[in-house]
Formats: sequence, structure tokens, C-alpha cells
Amino acid sequence: MNIAIAGCGYVGLVTGVCLAEAGHHVACIDIDRQKVIQLKKGSPPMYEPGLKELLNRNLEQGRIHFHTNGATAYPRADVLMIAVGTPQQADGQADLQYVFQAAKEMGTKAKTGAILVVKSTVPVGTGDQIDQLIHQELERKEPLSIASNPEFLREGSAISDTLRADRLVIGAETKIVLDQLEEMYADFHLPVVRTDRKSAEMIKYASNAFLATKISFMNEIASICEKTGADVEWVAQGMGLDQRIGSSFLRAGIGYGGSCFPKDTNALVQIAGHVSHDFELLKAVIKVNNEQRSGFIRSIQDRLGANLEGKKIALLGLSFKPNTDDMREAPSVPIAHALHQLGAKLVAYDPVATRHAARKLPDQVLFAQTIEEAIKGADAVCILTEWADIQSFPLSAYQDFMRQPIIFDGRNCHTLEAAALAEVEYHSIGRRPVSPIYM
Ligand code: UDX
Repeated sequence: MNIAIAGCGYVGLVTGVCLAEAGHHVACIDIDRQKVIQLKKGSPPMYEPGLKELLNRNLEQGRIHFHTNGATAYPRADVLMIAVGTPQQADGQADLQYVFQAAKEMGTKAKTGAILVVKSTVPVGTGDQIDQLIHQELERKEPLSIASNPEFLREGSAISDTLRADRLVIGAETKIVLDQLEEMYADFHLPVVRTDRKSAEMIKYASNAFLATKISFMNEIASICEKTGADVEWVAQGMGLDQRIGSSFLRAGIGYGGSCFPKDTNALVQIAGHVSHDFELLKAVIKVNNEQRSGFIRSIQDRLGANLEGKKIALLGLSFKPNTDDMREAPSVPIAHALHQLGAKLVAYDPVATRHAARKLPDQVLFAQTIEEAIKGADAVCILTEWADIQSFPLSAYQDFMRQPIIFDGRNCHTLEAAALAEVEYHSIGRRPVSPIYM
């Protein structure tokens, strides 16, 4: 098939290279000229394992092309996909201006029989609005089918999440469109959910909100564990083996971040509000997530004092999760701001996110090239992202480099036994603190 995709962000680019890998001819369009130049040279704008290799292979084989507009690609395409951003507005609603802009251009240029697929995360009913925009406001004569095909890929494992997704969700109003889209993905051999457009749109928000709920639920359990002496890691293990619960997304920590969960949970609260439904449960999920960061700061103050003037604190890991350089809604940002406000001198290390982090924290943080450099002479360490090199950094080395080995681990990277053995003071989430006998 000939496929045109508007938007070369995570979703558009990863979908594009995966569809090209499946043998389709893919044209990716982005208004960012610089990004398009880099992509033509085989250089993706973000760090994502496996993406560069897949991009280069398909560029060499001539199956993927990049353009700054859809003038040539849209009229040729059998399937036109919208994968542009839907950023959060001040009131929490998704900003759909880029989606409608792309839809307008596609609506005027698409050939007869083409299908317009919305991949961006959009509120329920957006497909209907696009239909109306194209057929009534633009007065397009030949019908253009509008479908929804939400994306569930995670940053850091985006390629395998696409090629080996748990499910493919396709929402459309006719059997023929559902069949064609299922055929487009046939090489991926995925379980397919065929549904109507609105349900497909809702599946995306409901899935992200449910996963965020699991995380906030565990973070609440973690707080209660700390107060009762239970251990959240054992609790998560015991719960996760129940197949009805499942073991994923039960990791307590400093809360979820990234480009999706914070934005999509806020948007779903708004979507519910528009149909006069007060989504109290999801509001609580969001509140718990924010509280998780303040609780982490409080535990540092409880140990080091309310005023952190003159204290050197090392921050290990800055990206919102490992294997990505993405700093969007990363918990490290509010935590760094708060510690800086309290007077702490901050030195941070992240294996790949430093360049992006420097833009978010220009005045608050000094950046180190290695973990050793960051923790040297520090009064405390905060582990904020569970990168592999941070997890495997020997606990005993904190003894060697720090002024005093006090560790606040926001990601539960170490066992309590290992901390006790290394004779470090170790505070984690939902578990009892460990303190060496001599202290
Ligand atoms: C998420 C969804 O998983 C994906 O399906 C959707 O398309 C986009 O949003 P992503 O944001 O890339 O993907 O990251 P994910 O791995 O889901 O983690 C999100 C956040 O939750 C991270 O900040 C992570 O640290 C946090 N998290 C995850 C926890 O705190 N505990 C967990 O148990 C799991």
C-alpha cells in the first residue's frame, strides 16, 4: 500500500518505519524542515533503541521518504494517517489544532477510496468532527472514510511494542474499511479488535488512565506500607501473581511522567466533564501522582533538615523513565526545582538525557559526565530514574565517593539486604529505611 503519515514524532516515525519494514511504501510528512533533513539522512530526532537501524534499512531500500508537506504524498496514498501531537492546554484539554490542520489538507488532497486514519490520541468524537469538517465544511464530494487506530507504544521499546503489540485496535464505521486496515497490518500478525470509531478512541484513554491508576494505587499502598512496616515489593509480587491483577505497572516510585499518562489522564477528566461526569477516581489518581513527588522531598527534609542550604545532593537519572532521553513531565524536574528552592546544590547525571535536561533545568543543576563525578563529596543521593548503569552501580561505591552515604531511592533499584551489606543509609519507597549500625 501507499501510506502517508502526518507527523514524525514518536508515533508517526515508529509507525512509518514499521509499516515500511512490512513492505509498504511510506511517506512521512513533518513541517519541521530541520527534522525532515535529518531524517532523510537517516538520523532520528529522538533516542529510541532499534529505530535508527530500521530507518536506515528502509531508506536504503527506498520504502520510506520524508517531506515537509503532503503535496505529492497525500494524493497518491491509499491510507493517510494523522500522527501529529495533541498537546495539553492550560485547562487539561487536548489541543486538536494540528489534527484538524492535517485533516483539512488530507481532506482536500486525498484520492477517491482512500482512508484517513487518526493515530493521535484524540477525545471521543473527534473522528466524527473530522468527518463533518471534510464532508460539510470543506464540501468534499467523494466520501473519505475516517477511521481510528490508536497507538499503544512505549518510549524505549517503541519498535517492539509496534511490531509485537498486545493488540491492534481499529475503529471504523464500515466492514470494508476495517478489512483494509487489518490487511495493512497483516504482516504484524497481531490480535485485532475491530470496533466502531468512538470506542476505539475511548480504548486509548481508558487504557492509559487504567495503567496510571495501577501506578497511583501502588504508590498509595507504598505509603501505607511505610507506616505499617510492610514491604511494597513483596506486596506487589504477591498481588501480581494473581492473573486477574497482572504483575506489570505495580512498581511504586516517584510517580508516572512522560508524554502520555499525565496528558491523557487530565484529558479524560475533561472529556468526562463535558458529558457531566465527575471522574473522581481519576482525579484522585492525578492527585496521588503529584503527591508522590512532594512526599519524596519531605523524606529528604526529614533526614537532612527543612533547610538544605549548603547541602550537596546528587540526582541520578533525569529522563521520565530509562532508555529514553525524553524529559516531558519527568518527576526529576519538579524534584530538582523543589530541592533547589530549599537551598541544595544539585549535581545530576543521566546517561542520555543531559542535553534535554539542561534546557529544563538551566540554573538549578550542574551536570556530571559520570555517576562518580556526580556523587563525589555529596551529602545525599537521589535515584530518580532506574537506568541500568545506575541500578548496577555498586552500593559500596557510594561509601567511597560521598561525604556521607545517604541514598534516597525513588525507584527501588536495590534490595534492602544489599543496602544493609554495603553499610549505606538507604531510604526507598514503601519499604523500611536501612541504616548501618555504626551511624
Ligand atoms: C505509555 C503507555 O504505556 C503507552 O501504551 C502509551 O501509548 C503512551 O504512554 P510511556 O509513556 O512511553 O508509554 O511509558 P511507560 O513505560 O508506560 O511508563 C510511563 C510512566 O509510568 C513512567 O514515568 C514510568 O516510570 C511510570 N511507571 C511505570 C511507574 O511508576 N510504575 C510502573 O509500574 C510502571
